[in-house]
Amino acid sequence: RADALPDARASNRGPAAKVLMQDGGMWWLNFRHGPLLTYGSLLLGVTVVLMAIFYLIRGRIRIEHGRAGITIERFKFIERFGHWLIASSFILLAITGLLSLAGRKLLIPLFGHEAFSTFAIAGKWIHNNVSWAFMLGLVMVFVMWIVHNLPDRTDINWILKGGGIFGKGHPPAKKFNAGQKLIFWAVIILGTSISVSGISLLFPFELTMFEPTLALLNDMGVPQLLGLGTIDATLTPQEEMQYAQLWHAVISFVLMAVIIAHIYIGTLGMEGAFEAMGSGDVDLEWAREHHSIWADEVVAKQGKPASGTQPAE
Ligand code: HEM
Repeated sequence: RADALPDARASNRGPAAKVLMQDGGMWWLNFRHGPLLTYGSLLLGVTVVLMAIFYLIRGRIRIEHGRAGITIERFKFIERFGHWLIASSFILLAITGLLSLAGRKLLIPLFGHEAFSTFAIAGKWIHNNVSWAFMLGLVMVFVMWIVHNLPDRTDINWILKGGGIFGKGHPPAKKFNAGQKLIFWAVIILGTSISVSGISLLFPFELTMFEPTLALLNDMGVPQLLGLGTIDATLTPQEEMQYAQLWHAVISFVLMAVIIAHIYIGTLGMEGAFEAMGSGDVDLEWAREHHSIWADEVVAKQGKPASGTQPAE
């Protein structure tokens, strides 16, 4: 009987309301749970294994001539603050991001639905809010260090000599060597891309990234150049969000791999490196071996370096 039907209405506002059905969803869901997770974790695993192999072959990069026992200032408090802000927030974002990507698959079987729900809610809250700290750290690091990361002639020599990773002696370098400049630009470019796609996910359907980018690529003739013809740049609002999610995750995996290598070299991989970001002061001999041009400049500016720790045995 028609009069027995409930007076049910549904309302759905926003750009997604105009799309009642879209068939891109299953492809995205399968990709997210399948190849994205598989290849993403493979990338991180391979990076860890490569670091372990590198450690076994090369060992810890030592201060060749031993510590001078005198320190010079490498990073001011504000530089270390910016670094640790981006570092701690990135690590939290990586953990909570992986939790939201793989948690259902990995944690529900271990802890059950109830406990996982608490983890997932807390993880999402941390991820959404800590993202601002990451973006602030990114801007700070960019502003403070860009002048030291512009490519110059010393980088060519440094790269040609492989940074002195194998064998004795390290090629001359300014405040940052070519390897570190690569890390810096990876953090800035990939970090910005992760931030923009993250904002698009944080405010669903409000910031469209892919439709204008695809249209721009079409206008520039890029797909035509690759023999793909003009690509369809009209995306449903849901497709826009799906691409934003995939992009956010893929680029994050790449940056996580870069950062695993960075953390290795800043801690276990190289004697004397951690102090730079710990206390802000480094041993003069370390500075001369790894950043000779910068070390000479600092000594010339400051005169005789302030006496620091006693020479190590
Ligand atoms: C536990 C984690 C980390 C440790 C132990 C660490 C350690 C260090 C150290 C010791 C330096 C100074 C190197 C020098 O004096 O020449 C440095 C520099 C730097 N760090 Fe980190 N870091 C960590 C995490 C991160 C993260 C998560 C990011 C970015 C997402 C980051 C970005 C940078 C950048 C851009 C530099 C300057 C370029 C370079 O030295 O490679 N760091 N880090």
